Amino acid sequence: MSSFIVSSTSTSRVNTLLVVVGFLAFATIYKLLDKRKQFEKRPPLVKYTIPWLGSAIQLGKDPDGVFKNATKAFGPVFRIKAAGREFTYITAPEIISAVYRDSKTFEFTPIRLDMSELIFGISKKSCNDMKNIDHFLKYHHEGLSAKAVHGLHQRYGPFAYDCIQNMMINFRATTITKLALFIKPPAYVAALYTFFGKTYPALESYEPFQIFDAGFLLLQTKLPRFILRKYLNAREKLTVLTEGYLTSPHEDCSDFVREMEGLVRNEKWSSRDMANFFLGDIWAFESNAIQAVYWIIALQLQRPEGLYKIIEEIDTARDSWIKNNSNVEDETHCQWILEGSFPFLTSVIQESLRFCSSVFSIRLVTREVTLGGYRIRKGDYVMCHTRSVHMDNDIHKNPTEFIPERYMGSETFTKNGRIVPNHSMPFGGGVSMCEGRHFVMGELKIFIALLLSAAHIELDPLSSERPQFQWARMGTGLMPPEGDLFIRVTRRTSTSSSR
Ligand code: HEM
Ligand SMILES: *[C@@H]1O[C@H](CO)[C@@H](O)[C@H](O)[C@H]1NC(C)=O
Ligand SMILES: *[C@@H]1O[C@H](CO)[C@@H](O)[C@H](O)[C@H]1NC(C)=O
Ligand SMILES: *[C@@H]1O[C@H](CO)[C@@H](O)[C@H](O)[C@H]1NC(C)=O
Repeated sequence: MSSFIVSSTSTSRVNTLLVVVGFLAFATIYKLLDKRKQFEKRPPLVKYTIPWLGSAIQLGKDPDGVFKNATKAFGPVFRIKAAGREFTYITAPEIISAVYRDSKTFEFTPIRLDMSELIFGISKKSCNDMKNIDHFLKYHHEGLSAKAVHGLHQRYGPFAYDCIQNMMINFRATTITKLALFIKPPAYVAALYTFFGKTYPALESYEPFQIFDAGFLLLQTKLPRFILRKYLNAREKLTVLTEGYLTSPHEDCSDFVREMEGLVRNEKWSSRDMANFFLGDIWAFESNAIQAVYWIIALQLQRPEGLYKIIEEIDTARDSWIKNNSNVEDETHCQWILEGSFPFLTSVIQESLRFCSSVFSIRLVTREVTLGGYRIRKGDYVMCHTRSVHMDNDIHKNPTEFIPERYMGSETFTKNGRIVPNHSMPFGGGVSMCEGRHFVMGELKIFIALLLSAAHIELDPLSSERPQFQWARMGTGLMPPEGDLFIRVTRRTSTSSSR
């Protein structure tokens, strides 16, 4: 080498250098071009200034603003980086539907198995078995189908009625309380009894469930155990309670649980894994439904008309049913609700779900694919962001306002002159769509109608505290309240709700 340098003229040295530099430059430009070509093809990334954290701070402050601005700037497919992780978000209804439909390219099963292990603590081995248990996922689906839920609603009626009546014993005189303390426990207990029977230690499980539920997102992060300890301890309590339930007689459970239990027992799992499998169901049955009853009452109470219009509707329906069925004893306490017509209450429920839900239906991409003109790579994660549809100005008039009557007319929801059939997707969609949606719509109607038959609820005029969304829980369904409402509760006596 050195002899070459020594013997070479200075011009040839310069030439060599130029070639090297030229080549380097070419290589760099080529690489850049190649990279740019790739970047152009991948969905645009929402700009951020702090590495790793990415858009986390903006998402924490104003998530609706982040999604709205990004959709406006880039269209309905873009990437957001937050807390070290990057996802592709989809915000337009037609592309969301395309992702939901193509469950081979946009897979959910591996994610469901990960969640079973990380969140619910089912052993890896049993999670692996779950890859081949289509028969029991099929029963799970059928047991909660629109046809099957009637029996569950009829079980729910008496439990909800008793839970509400037991609570109202404390409200003979007008009492000031917080809405969450008042409304969540009876809703929680009634649903557990409906599925598992009164042998399930529902009251005992309430506290640990609240803690476990609060840790739902953290448990997926694989953070060190000492950070997760509180949530893992709460989960352990729930595992032990559920294991105890499964190993003692519980003939009073629903057919749904009896049937599922039979199928799960065939798998020869440990009793812990069985308990944690049912814990997954308990979480699904409870977590969102108790937030729903909370927001229905909380949002309507903050309207000028308060609960008056709902009460008028349910009183009319109850009186009319009693007149028509004067010889019939309503043993389920909910026959009048299941047979009655509640257009206003139904609209309030639907509007509450539109307004308070934040769902990221997550999918793992199994092959390279084009979405909205962008290249999505194998191994990427795609999130269907249904709240963007709920908050779209074109589809919903004044989307940031809670409008109780929104769903009362025969209004169609359109964008650019085209009908948007899936304008409201609080239950997600596709293969991971909420299986409890048929049950929960009846559950909410029954609970609210029984509650407002038994209790007179008003805002406490002395408190100005108002609940906000707990945005930290975005993506998992209905956001819980941050803060609360103080309410004045009086027992209603002049009604025939004792029937
Ligand atoms: C208003 C109350 C509820 C809301 C807003 C809600 C919402 C959701 C959402 C967003 C998902 C995931 C969807 C996705 O990733 O695309 C889900 C899944 C699920 N929900 Fe619900 N849910 C509610 C109540 C219930 C109830 C009462 C039950 C049971 C009776 C239930 C059973 C389930 C089940 C079993 C799944 C899992 C589906 C799967 O993994 O394939 N949900 N729910
Ligand atoms: C969205 O854009 C508006 C208008 O440019 C801006 O004022 C607002 O801060 C942006 N919000 C977020 C969260 O980026
Ligand atoms: C009661 O009967 C009348 C007349 O048959 C009917 O129009 C009405 O819908 C019934 N109401 C209920 C709640 O069943
Ligand atoms: C979207 O609408 C179609 C047609 O009405 C329906 O079959 C599908 O289940 C809907 N999907 C969701 C997520 O609501």
